[in-house]
Amino acid sequence: MFDNVDFDSIDITQEPPEEEPARQYYFIAKCRKYVKEESERLGRPLFSVVRTFGCQMNARDSEKLSGILNAAGFEETEDENADLVIYNTCTVRDNANQRVYGRLGVLNGYKRRNPHMKICLCGCMMQEPSVIEKIRKSYSFVDLIFGTHNIFKFAQLLVEMYEADGMLIDIWKDTDQIVEKLPVQRKYPFKSGINIMFGCNNFCSYCIVPYVRGRERSREPEEILAEIKALAAEGVVEIMLLGQNVNSYGKNLKNPISFAELLRRVETIEGIERIRFMTSHPKDLSDELISVMKASKKICRHLHLPLQSGSTRILKEMNRRYTKEQYLLLAEKIRKEIPDISITTDIIVGFPGETYEDVLETIDVIKKVQYDNAFTFQYSKRTGTPAAAMENQVDKETVTKHFDEVLSVVQNTAKERAKLLEGVTMDALVEELNEHDKGLVTGRLSNNIIVHFKGTEELIGKIIPVALKECRGFYYLGEMV
Ligand code: SAH
Ligand code: SF4
Ligand code: F3S
Repeated sequence: MFDNVDFDSIDITQEPPEEEPARQYYFIAKCRKYVKEESERLGRPLFSVVRTFGCQMNARDSEKLSGILNAAGFEETEDENADLVIYNTCTVRDNANQRVYGRLGVLNGYKRRNPHMKICLCGCMMQEPSVIEKIRKSYSFVDLIFGTHNIFKFAQLLVEMYEADGMLIDIWKDTDQIVEKLPVQRKYPFKSGINIMFGCNNFCSYCIVPYVRGRERSREPEEILAEIKALAAEGVVEIMLLGQNVNSYGKNLKNPISFAELLRRVETIEGIERIRFMTSHPKDLSDELISVMKASKKICRHLHLPLQSGSTRILKEMNRRYTKEQYLLLAEKIRKEIPDISITTDIIVGFPGETYEDVLETIDVIKKVQYDNAFTFQYSKRTGTPAAAMENQVDKETVTKHFDEVLSVVQNTAKERAKLLEGVTMDALVEELNEHDKGLVTGRLSNNIIVHFKGTEELIGKIIPVALKECRGFYYLGEMV
């Protein structure tokens, strides 16, 4: 996708070009000059580190930031005591925000000892004016702040930061711009996320994402397919199509196309062995999608289908636009059509006005659907969302009690489901050496379950059959066959 540009041949004595991405290539070239001069002065390379705090889309943005830093001449490190640190933040729940504030204190300590260090913040949290105020006041050592809509101009912002004194802030309220063909540094050589759309139009009443990510915009299918082809040519075997609501992909394009049709086209790309996607909103999941999944050899046997609540009354308050019964029917249809599929979900406990009866409805759905895994969250009040203004907020103690009960049901069903595969042989994509035991490798099954088995580094990135010998709760110990 990104053709190797020779940045050093760009004439930076001229004015920058107006059009993208040429404009950003110009700023990358300019940045390279700063980095080179500074590293000559220090007699060592300049080190940068990008930290991701949020979801898969946030992680994909981090790969774009890394790509630009890499093109600008930085060397990537894990150590946050570096020359440039960038935090790609998340604000979906308050604990994500608190982690950022906590870490900023540590960075300040590093910067005191290394005054030329640059600290940058970007991502969803930065789209909130109250956050910007707080950072301006209490974290004045931060050098650069930008948001979710102008990530593409990171190179330009870096140059402006090096030329400015004091904190540089550039936040856009929204954008309809999608800049293609910028450098990306992938975390894994064999798998990759691909944005198919940005933003969200659903406005679930608890959720801040539509406010910090803007309106829904789909990428052109040709751009997506070209990117995937290029990834396949580089050796990528597994891709994950990313969007807040992939089921509404393509509806607003000039030439509308359905998500199912996009999947059909992705399936034809040679070299791609596995296709995943995230996230599916139940209200928009079509029969066409189910039949494409069923017929596909490449689409993984995994569907993440966020429930949020099993109570129709709470679902209405959440503005989810489906009922408990509609959700159950949908799940049943999917299980019937694709029996080997694993279904996972997200659940919120403690939404304003939620009673124990509502929680029992959620538990009922968990038992009926038999989720293979579920991420359970305590409701977090996000300023500016309709739910935050609701009067009947549930007290912390009740939320914790309900949460523990839901969590234990989720864990029990997930364990039961996982056990069903004991003795079966399935293909696993080997992702890494096992963290605790270097004689083992860790692979992922099509249904997203993890399996550890004896193997060496050479297996990483390969898809191989593994016998699932022993279920250990949520994962397997296996043996290569
Ligand atoms: N677009 C995806 C979800 C993105 S946010 C979807 O609609 O499914 C990921 C998850 O965070 C959500 O599914 C929800 O369960 C959780 N979440 C979002 N806002 C939250 C809040 N205010 N408090 C607690 N959990 C929240
Ligand atoms: Fe948030 Fe709802 Fe959009 Fe998901 S669909 S990002 S939960 S508003
Ligand atoms: Fe968080 Fe933004 Fe993703 S708020 S969950 S990083 S879209």
